[in-house]
Amino acid sequence: MQDQIIVALDLPDGVAALEMARTLKGRVSWVKVGMTLFYAEGPQIVRDLRGLGFKVFVDLKLNDIPHQVRGACRTLVRQGADMITVHATGGRAMLTAAAEELTAASQKFGVKKPVLVAVTVLTSLDDDALSEIGCPATAAEQVAALATLARDCGCDGVVCSPEEAAAMRALLGEDAYVVTPGVRPKWAEAGDQARVATPAEAIAAGASHLVIGRPITGAADPAAAVKRIVEGN
Ligand code: C5P
Repeated sequence: MQDQIIVALDLPDGVAALEMARTLKGRVSWVKVGMTLFYAEGPQIVRDLRGLGFKVFVDLKLNDIPHQVRGACRTLVRQGADMITVHATGGRAMLTAAAEELTAASQKFGVKKPVLVAVTVLTSLDDDALSEIGCPATAAEQVAALATLARDCGCDGVVCSPEEAAAMRALLGEDAYVVTPGVRPKWAEAGDQARVATPAEAIAAGASHLVIGRPITGAADPAAAVKRIVEGN
């Protein structure tokens, strides 16, 4: 499970993030840099985390015209991202541009192609919120439609809640990345995550990777927290 845990480094700055990463070295393979940390520290934080030996999930949820997203993908390959996110609502041309550019740029720079995962419907949006932004489908229908589109355009998988993991696994097949936040070990506070699953439940439902932040980064002993999660406690 060590390779399936992605620790969300939602910490105030690069110093705190790197200190946490050093604490977790050898315990997990993946860390996630979200918008807050990336916009504060820039691409150097990705290089620093890779320098510590981590695989880095750069979660910027790209959504723009294809030309811009293509450029962002090229830049992120150069910075050493190992996994990136795009919004599936960016549409076919944008998703295809992202997938194509990751392949082209990784060949050009001689690095491994980053994993491309699509965000379908943000878990903060319910059916009413979708209707308000002009989407007549239910969240579940929209998730399925966007996941299918993302797969057809060359995405490697999706980010979704543990509740959607089984449906995504069935839809996308056994090789797909199904990356789930909203994961809480039994001993941790749910906090602001509304629909939570334990690590074991999320994996049983079909998740390939678990994004876990505060239960690890907020623990008195983060390395021990990872150990408890890996051991299934
Ligand atoms: O601290 P916690 O375990 O809640 O962190 C979960 C991480 O996953 C955060 O970085 C959060 O932004 C991200 N995330 C989420 N729910 C989503 C998508 C991403 O919690 N639907």
